[in-house]
Amino acid sequence: MAFEMVGVVGLGTMGAGIAEVFARAGLRVIGVEADAEALARGRGHLERSTARAVDKGRLSGERREEILGRVTLTTSRADLREADLVVEAIPEVLDYKRSLFADLDGICKPAAVLATNTSSLPVTTLAAATGRPGRVVGMHFFNPAPVMRLVEVVGTVVTEPGVLAGVSELAGRLGKSVVTVKDRAGFVVNRLLLPYLNHAAGLLEQGVATRDDIDAAMRLGAGLPMGPFELLDLIGLDTAYEIMGALFDETRDRRHAPSPLLRELVAAGLLGRKSGRGFHGDTATPHRLEKSGAQTVKVIGEGAEAMARRFADAGFKAADDADVVLRLGERPVVEHAARLARPGTLVGVHLVGERVAEVALTVLTSHEAAVAARDLMKVIGLTPVPCKDRAGFVVDALLHPYLNDAVRMHESGYASISDIDAAMKLGCGYPAGPFETLEEIGLPAVRDGLRALYAEFREPAYAPAPLLDQLVTAGAATFDRA
Ligand code: 3HC
Repeated sequence: MAFEMVGVVGLGTMGAGIAEVFARAGLRVIGVEADAEALARGRGHLERSTARAVDKGRLSGERREEILGRVTLTTSRADLREADLVVEAIPEVLDYKRSLFADLDGICKPAAVLATNTSSLPVTTLAAATGRPGRVVGMHFFNPAPVMRLVEVVGTVVTEPGVLAGVSELAGRLGKSVVTVKDRAGFVVNRLLLPYLNHAAGLLEQGVATRDDIDAAMRLGAGLPMGPFELLDLIGLDTAYEIMGALFDETRDRRHAPSPLLRELVAAGLLGRKSGRGFHGDTATPHRLEKSGAQTVKVIGEGAEAMARRFADAGFKAADDADVVLRLGERPVVEHAARLARPGTLVGVHLVGERVAEVALTVLTSHEAAVAARDLMKVIGLTPVPCKDRAGFVVDALLHPYLNDAVRMHESGYASISDIDAAMKLGCGYPAGPFETLEEIGLPAVRDGLRALYAEFREPAYAPAPLLDQLVTAGAATFDRA
């Protein structure tokens, strides 16, 4: 299957990025937009992105001209008649896409392949809108398309095998890795990523922690390239909202119901980077800088001695009736507070990785102790993440259900462990795939974390996936990748 000329319909952030990827790989590209204004915006995306690469010394001016020279921009879909492949990247509205596919079917030569970059809408429905359903596939790129190395190639029950193979080979020519999947809402990446992002919005809405603290916890604690709110702003809140809606429609899992906060921001026109403001982009409310007067600190729980030494080295005194009592551990602490003579002094501390300390504040914690605990973490070089005293605090509450979802996805037969791991690393820049992360944290720790979340929230999806449970029971430390 020879792809030399490709069309891209819709030149928003994703479409323009996809056009750039094709042009960089030496293909001729016809970019189509609805009107002159949208076309000018699309041209702007292409010009800025390639100019940035030149500024960074990653592209010569000459090569940039070559790349841009391969892209023809037009407002006429009829110009796609010679294209070997057309990738659609218009807004995620099924009716628009269906009518576009019917249109493209009439315009494009019979051998052309029609692809959708949809994040979550059914590819099968789009295929059925054409007279060539066997030549319709999903070709799902990740934002920013020129950077992220994954393409999910989505086949339906009627896709011709040769088409899947040809499109996958083309993705390889673009320098991308391919995961081939069947047509389910969210495919692999969005099915695992978006519920986590939605959950983060839920934690923010419930006041478990602030936006910046949740972002910092996931970036510095879990080692992800971006915090959930930074990533939501990159993806676009409207896109995220639509994906959640599509996931919910398919799964009826209440965790997939779009967060009301997301709905509110979208309705207010705060869509993230593309509109200048989303979760971020407001006038920052700086943390009030308060200095605690705490002089004495007591550390109890797992690993207390090592931390107490760090405070002693920093000049703090230990005392039984200390100004602040830090209880180390990974579970809520309020029951321990209730047993103290001065319950207001107790704060939970959960270390996440080398850099982050979640600081759990109970309903009994005094303001002074809360401020002191935060300051004390900074004194010993950790980033404090103040949060409510809830199961999983922030990082485990967000990470463990995501890991569980990955196990369930594998168990359902939808994707292999290696495909799921590769997809999350290449599509989202995660340092490790979910199965690698599970093995690194330890299967029992994740299973127990999930049990604690389930016990607190009674959310059926938090119950450990049977495969995870069984591996722990059997004493296995790793998944079978054979
Ligand atoms: N266009 C082109 N290139 C870009 C770019 C853009 N919009 N943004 C960044 N880059 C390039 C930079 O030029 C730089 O390239 P260089 O190394 O050749 O100089 C490289 O990417 C790294 O950029 P920066 O140094 O400016 O920034 P960071 O190191 O902070 O990386 C990031 C930025 C690549 C976006 C990184 O934070 C990341 O990987 N984030 C995760 C993004 C993610 O998860 N994407 C998937 C979202 S889900 C999705 O898209 C599916 C959809 O259906 C919703």
